[in-house]
Amino acid sequence: MSVLISPSLLAADFSRMGEEAARMEQCGADWLHIDVMDGHFVPNITLGAPVVKCLRERTGLFFDVHLMISHPLQYAGDFVKAGAQMITFHVECEDDTAETIRAIKALGCRVGLSIKPNTPVEAILPFLPQLDMVLVMTVEPGFGGQSFMPETMPKVKALREAAPGLLIQVDGGVSAKTIAMAAENGANVFVAGSAVFGAEDPQAAIRQLRSIAEPFAG
Ligand code: DX5
Ligand code: ZN
Repeated sequence: MSVLISPSLLAADFSRMGEEAARMEQCGADWLHIDVMDGHFVPNITLGAPVVKCLRERTGLFFDVHLMISHPLQYAGDFVKAGAQMITFHVECEDDTAETIRAIKALGCRVGLSIKPNTPVEAILPFLPQLDMVLVMTVEPGFGGQSFMPETMPKVKALREAAPGLLIQVDGGVSAKTIAMAAENGANVFVAGSAVFGAEDPQAAIRQLRSIAEPFAG
């Protein structure tokens, strides 16, 4: 199974978002991680579907949209129309999980389900057969630049054991120092904001993250 690196646009210069997205493609990113926050599910507001639509015109990168919003069911269609190729929402949101998964798939989009650090893995196990990806948050969602929480690793391990072929994404505090731990436990999709956008050479940073994680991917 190969490793995917998904730089998080949250750490980009928002006044130059189109160029930053295109730059990630040139730097060898596999996906582009787009963090959507509604100021309700998390205490921060970022961007909505109209911005994703504009970004779609600037890059061919796979759009990995992370919805940190209370009502994904209401907005998923807008993001699919705007060009999202994977929509990940939170099991802790206010909408029905099974219904939201079905709705996103019916739109012809891949679907991921995410859990916050304090949510037990059991909350998502029943949905695994319907999912394209699980996102294990390795920080409390809401802000970039936080420290990776190693205590979330047993969840990654349990998920890898439960679903050997699943895409398992980790998001938050992923860097050259922490990626090996996540990969060793079974993660294969890595979101990195500050570690890529904060690097002097983002291309080298992506290459380094990939080379550390790859040996664990088997
Ligand atoms: C946090 C977001 C992350 C964030 C990661 O709520 O979901 O995607 O951008 O940023 P870093 O890699 O800086 O922790
Ligand atoms: Zn994210």
